[in-house]
Amino acid sequence: ASVRLPKVTAEELVKHNKQNDCWMVLFGQVYDITQYLEYHPGGVPELMRAAGTDATGLFNQYHSWVNYNSMLKACLVGRFEGDTTKLP
Ligand code: HEM
Repeated sequence: ASVRLPKVTAEELVKHNKQNDCWMVLFGQVYDITQYLEYHPGGVPELMRAAGTDATGLFNQYHSWVNYNSMLKACLVGRFEGDTTKLP
């Protein structure tokens, strides 16, 4: 299924770094978490640290056991195409 997802470049991803337009990469997948933000048990500011960038490291640091895959199913917008180490 993931092969059918649109590709999202770094240039596109970094534009969505605002609370009312917030995308992030998790394990290579790109999520629009704008609607999820206010439901994050760790709070909005905490989650906003990963806005417009790769959240995988922080996610694993705080709660690698959380089932983001099922929680964010409706938020999936694409798969990241590029080098996550070059993201902000
Ligand atoms: C807590 C989901 C990303 C920081 C939680 C919890 C969930 C969750 C379900 C509650 C866990 C529990 O109590 O067992 C998510 C999802 C994320 C995400 C779906 C992906 C979009 C992040 C990121 C950070 C973060 C990127 C850090 C920058 C935290 C912290 C808590 C927390 C600090 C602990 C809150 C507390 O118990 O006081 N998150 N999270 N999360 N999250 Fe996230």
